[in-house]
Amino acid sequence: MICLGIESTAHTLGIGVVEGNKVLSNIRALYKTPKGEGIIPRKAADHHSENFERLVAEAVEKAGIRVKDVGLIAYSKGPGLGACLKVGVVAAKNLALNLNVPIVGVNHCIAHIEISKLATGFSDPLVLYVSGGNTQVIVKHDKRYHVVGETLDIGIGNLIDVFARNLGLEWAHGSVVEQLAREGKYVELPYSVKGMDLTFTGLLTHAIKKLQTTRKEDVCYSLQETAFSMCVEATERALALTRKKQVVACGGVAQNTRLQKMLQLMAEPHGAKFGVAPGEFNADNGAMIAYTGLLMQQHGMAEKQSEVKAIQKFRTDEVELW
Ligand code: FE2
Repeated sequence: MICLGIESTAHTLGIGVVEGNKVLSNIRALYKTPKGEGIIPRKAADHHSENFERLVAEAVEKAGIRVKDVGLIAYSKGPGLGACLKVGVVAAKNLALNLNVPIVGVNHCIAHIEISKLATGFSDPLVLYVSGGNTQVIVKHDKRYHVVGETLDIGIGNLIDVFARNLGLEWAHGSVVEQLAREGKYVELPYSVKGMDLTFTGLLTHAIKKLQTTRKEDVCYSLQETAFSMCVEATERALALTRKKQVVACGGVAQNTRLQKMLQLMAEPHGAKFGVAPGEFNADNGAMIAYTGLLMQQHGMAEKQSEVKAIQKFRTDEVELW
């Protein structure tokens, strides 16, 4: 069966076409915020609405199929920004009705995990999920992904994005912070792990203040080292408890090569393998929604039209799987 997946939780509109476990196409359009500003949900939603038709046409063409070959529509049900999610929900509902095919709502976080399992070949990993809105340590048990540790305030991606905007750069993004960090030296910043939970706002405040007196490269390096060490410590504690033999990082921040290296070094002494999916699957994308939609459909989890709706605060551990 061929599934078309729609991702629209935040600044990315992604359309992916997947058949079985083969990604046929995976394209996206990014809403870019004006310099110095965070995401404006209403404008991001307009962007997704304006680009939807074009992206679907491109994704279908690139996949080498016709729209009528699509047998399932999957959409991001949440978590995410209400205005952005709603564009995806309405578009998905219309497509499914027009094509007369089933529809399935996918938890965005679970989609990151499932596509990472496909890409790494891991069957039962301990997961560090690091993105703009989320930072969670996750383990699957009894048909459910359980969150065993998480941020108590902001997501790590949010920490890095807000800090990057304070650097006054034209393109304020985690990849720029990663680049600058390569030239930096360590300066002390606050470190806050509580059991397997984390907090980032104190670190953010101090890092922004430090920019007044310290080279930006040094603050970038120290911010990354501190925030990533916190995530790795929480993950290691969970690994020691669960004794899993596979560790996966997923979500936008998982593209950071320094974080990948640190997780690799942590996993080895525990006899665990570390793996990460290619960047296109850690950035928000439609293929992960399509792939997870297919898995859910196989397990009888398609929705009735009346159940098709967005859930803004949709937690990873709310979904009973298989
Ligand atoms: Fe994401």
